[in-house]
Amino acid sequence: MQMPELVFTKTISESLNHYCSLNQIKNAIILCDSNTSVHCLPLISELNFKVVAFPAGEVSKSFEQVNFILNQLIDLNADRQTLLINLGGGVVSDLGGFVASIYKRGIPFINIPTSLLGMVDASIGGKTGIDFLNYKNIIGVFNHPKAIFISSEFLKTLPQDELKSAWSEIIKTASIANIGLFHTIESNGDLDEVIKECVLTKSRLVEMDFKDQNIRQLLNFGHTIGHALESYHLEINKPIHHGYAVAYGMLMELKLALHIGNINKIEFNRVSELIKLKVGYDFSGTDLFDFYSKYLSADKKNNDSNISFSLPKSIGNGQYQWKVSLDQLKNWKIEGII
Ligand SMILES: NC(=O)c1ccc[n+]([C@@H]2O[C@H](COP(=O)([O-])OP(=O)(O)OC[C@H]3O[C@@H](n4cnc5c(N)ncnc54)[C@H](O)[C@@H]3O)[C@@H](O)[C@H]2O)c1
Repeated sequence: MQMPELVFTKTISESLNHYCSLNQIKNAIILCDSNTSVHCLPLISELNFKVVAFPAGEVSKSFEQVNFILNQLIDLNADRQTLLINLGGGVVSDLGGFVASIYKRGIPFINIPTSLLGMVDASIGGKTGIDFLNYKNIIGVFNHPKAIFISSEFLKTLPQDELKSAWSEIIKTASIANIGLFHTIESNGDLDEVIKECVLTKSRLVEMDFKDQNIRQLLNFGHTIGHALESYHLEINKPIHHGYAVAYGMLMELKLALHIGNINKIEFNRVSELIKLKVGYDFSGTDLFDFYSKYLSADKKNNDSNISFSLPKSIGNGQYQWKVSLDQLKNWKIEGII
């Protein structure tokens, strides 16, 4: 499938205008949530496109909102040539990408991520979808946007927690696939440079393995334990931010990598310290294994009784589909290894 055009810009309105005239876009609809309609829409409002907005939050990744947006598209006479512009974080791009993929058997869409997580992760890779019956992302399709516009202009209004927690995904990508990016983060390099390098790294992995069957799974570092922790928090009705759960997951999975000799102690310390520094969530003294362990066996990446991990072998160089049984993990827990 055709990879999307990547546009890195500091003048989003101009770049979007240029894209629309070049591609002879006559009809476009901007999809945003209740926050991005206030904070981000003004940056592209001079283009005068119609707007559809839905309530912000993960809860909107639902059939109810799919229904609402489809109704709006029909009311606005959207046809097969209408471009859907997803302006927002991962919720907007996941939901908007899904609706665009099913409306009239597919209309073109582009992503303009406005959250840091959206820029470095959610807007890239063509995974679109919604949640269903408390299962995250269980309904959806693989479909690339035509283009992705990356502009850090939007980050000025992003809440601090959203900004900090997204560093998990950046450090993850660097740790398993890009040592240069890791150095840039360690040396406090320019944020635009970091975002661009992270986007290009994820895009390369996606291009090699669109359907997530092999090398793209490297991007799951931290997510096996991270997802289990998120599920536990959902169960107790105290949702944890995805980025914070992934940070915890990476810290735990790094211990596994160290134990099996997949990473040396010096690099283990460097990655762990960078996570603590950039994500800044205090997990010290936290021991949640007994709570989240039951969710590990339910992970979607497992295809037999073993749990599948993606781990760094050395900084910038990962290994995927490293398997271990839940019993083995429990033993390592008792021995104090994880
Ligand atoms: N498709 C993928 O490959 C992929 C990858 C990672 C995550 N995701 C999905 O992405 C979602 C999480 O993305 P997210 O963290 O961007 O969440 P989000 O879209 O909910 O955005 C976080 C919050 O920030 C607000 N916001 C966004 N941009 C803003 C801005 N510039 N100024 C002010 N407020 C702003 C949003 O309204 C929301 O309240 C999850 O649903 C997750 O499943 C998808």
